Amino acid sequence: MRMEKSEIAMREEFTRWCKTVQSQMETVLLSHLPATTLAPHKLHEAMQYAVLDGGKRVRPLLAFAAGELFDAPRDGIQRAACAVEMIHAYSLVHDDMPCMDDDALRRGKPTVHKKYDEATALLVGDALQAQAFEVIAGGNLDAQRKVAMVSCLARAAGSLGMCGGQAIDLDSVGISLSRDALEHMHRLKTGALLEASVMLGALAGKSLLSAEELALRAYSSAIGLAFQVVDDILDATADSATLGKTAGKDAASNKPTYVSILGLNESLALAEKLRQDAHQALLPFGDPAMRLKELADLIVQRKT
Ligand code: IPE
Ligand code: IPE
Ligand code: MG
Ligand code: MG
Ligand code: MG
Repeated sequence: MRMEKSEIAMREEFTRWCKTVQSQMETVLLSHLPATTLAPHKLHEAMQYAVLDGGKRVRPLLAFAAGELFDAPRDGIQRAACAVEMIHAYSLVHDDMPCMDDDALRRGKPTVHKKYDEATALLVGDALQAQAFEVIAGGNLDAQRKVAMVSCLARAAGSLGMCGGQAIDLDSVGISLSRDALEHMHRLKTGALLEASVMLGALAGKSLLSAEELALRAYSSAIGLAFQVVDDILDATADSATLGKTAGKDAASNKPTYVSILGLNESLALAEKLRQDAHQALLPFGDPAMRLKELADLIVQRKT
């Protein structure tokens, strides 16, 4: 497929924007993590190991795009992005532990429990979760906004969000879930935090009209599910070196996934449909929502 010149220029501009956000996030995350010179040194080192220098930073990118769309102040956007990435990093540390997926490789490096030990991995997750809320509570957004953001992130991370999805995931090993049950699990374990990334960025900005909130929720619900559909596809089709995590793990662990339940082609078609749903949901915002649109493309077309 040939791309128009203007399309190539837009792609390049988007790539530059992503790189800027990703490198800014490295500084922001470091500034909100306890220094390794502080005791307990091992815990603080392991927290930095889990969070810094790796990952695609998709959730921060979503928070930035939504925050910029709703004119949020820079520090508010950065705090929203930082908090959701900390919750995500904690979820990965725990997801990799022997009591969950038992993985040795994450973001191209040994997992936290391999590099350190299991108790440290557990505490890294606990401490990152607490730190995420401290990051939102700080800064100078007004109190009402902060409370709305804390509540949004808490719900997305808890038993009706990510943790609940992880519980269903663990209970579903060896079970062929119905399509609805699979969708529910994916929406909780992965969709909830992606949706929160968008909403947190927006909440840091000007107040949303109810129609805007509905449109944003429709967008984030589509990309949230699409993200895990693509994760399932990549687990089955990509290699470990590209992914930076062990490929083929879902089939080896007998996990129900979109690929195991719908097959590869139907999973690819579903991801594409969700990308179009996401674009559709953004129509009321027009051109200013271009970054969110490009992020939907990135989420569905990514190779890692
Ligand atoms: C992996 O998330 C875990 C899922 C929720 C599917 P990412 O693919 O965003 O992982 P990183 O942050 O880029 O490492
Ligand atoms: C993980 O899903 C979701 C969370 C960490 C909440 P997966 O178990 O599929 O993620 P990967 O494939 O290990 O990154
Ligand atoms: Mg898992
Ligand atoms: Mg896993
Ligand atoms: Mg996976």
